[in-house]
Amino acid sequence: MKTFWEKLQEKTEKEKKPFLVQAPMENVTDVVFREMINICGRPDVFFTEFTNTDGLCSRGKDGESHRLQFTKNQHPIVAQIWGNNPENYYQSAMILKKQGFDGIDINMGCPDRDIVKKGSCAGLINNNSLVREIYLATKEGAGNLPISIKTRLGLNKIETEKWIGFLLGLDLAALTIHGRIAKEMSKFPANWEEIGKVVKIRNEMEKKTIIIGNGDIQNKEEAFEKYEKYHVDGIMIGRGIFSNLWVFNRDNENKIYNSNDKLNLLIKHITLFENTWKNKKPFEVMKKFYKIYISDFPNASDFRLSLMEAKDSESSIAMIKNKINENII
Ligand SMILES: Cc1cc2nc3c(=O)[nH]c(=O)nc-3n(C[C@H](O)[C@H](O)[C@H](O)COP(=O)(O)O)c2cc1C
Repeated sequence: MKTFWEKLQEKTEKEKKPFLVQAPMENVTDVVFREMINICGRPDVFFTEFTNTDGLCSRGKDGESHRLQFTKNQHPIVAQIWGNNPENYYQSAMILKKQGFDGIDINMGCPDRDIVKKGSCAGLINNNSLVREIYLATKEGAGNLPISIKTRLGLNKIETEKWIGFLLGLDLAALTIHGRIAKEMSKFPANWEEIGKVVKIRNEMEKKTIIIGNGDIQNKEEAFEKYEKYHVDGIMIGRGIFSNLWVFNRDNENKIYNSNDKLNLLIKHITLFENTWKNKKPFEVMKKFYKIYISDFPNASDFRLSLMEAKDSESSIAMIKNKINENII
């Protein structure tokens, strides 16, 4: 049976447009924010935040469970996991399969220094024997779920041929390339020429692995441009969502959303947050999303600051409703 990645690739070839993937973002793309993205325009694939395999296999696994919540509207959904113990990848994959995920992705790109020092995420780059073990253990635990990897172009220097060539040899279902090396964090522009090289290497090796390019894409036009130029199968978008919640919307391409539309969406986000995370996440977490909804009207930053002072969902929603009623935006 075809994996959802293969079906998306077929769609891409037919429509001559890349499929679009929501990037995993720790502490951002939880089940609630994904629902907001879904309301505004759904991506072709959803990703969870990264989830630690040691945590998933430990007695305190409930501490990780909030990362793995999803709704029936959020398919296909890929669970992203990280760690460096193959046995825990095997166990985690079995858990994720039971939970109903559509795929499993292994994080080999996060550049966090403490994590890298311990040999996980980008710390796995070039540790080929452990990477192979981890991949095979995950595959065994996952049954028929497709396994993908998200990585960067290298750890301290670009090593596309060596590192990505090795990964392609594993016959992964899909491979997401964030076009930077780990050392660069996110400070320099993404290197799309190297992402294009990955596609060439894949073709030369005659591999079926689906290639997803990632880095600095702000809108669909840029996504389509990169697709035309570099021939990736899909494009992953992360921070672009912060400036445009509608970035994945293919239906209302030219519709303009005004400030009140955005404030009403913020009320919806706060309500969903409260209903989903009551007592599980502090209300403060919600505040990092305000800029997405409150940015493009006079004195938006003043209103944002005053909203930051509100301590709970009810008072915040009351303030937002007042703002909408003021009818000056
Ligand atoms: C706040 C934040 C959290 C992130 N968390 C993750 C994560 O959990 N897993 C992962 O693979 N990448 C993570 N990333 C990296 C993004 O998935 C993406 O690769 C990166 O932001 C580049 O894409 P963009 O320019 O479209 O944002 C994170 C990025 C940001 C900004």
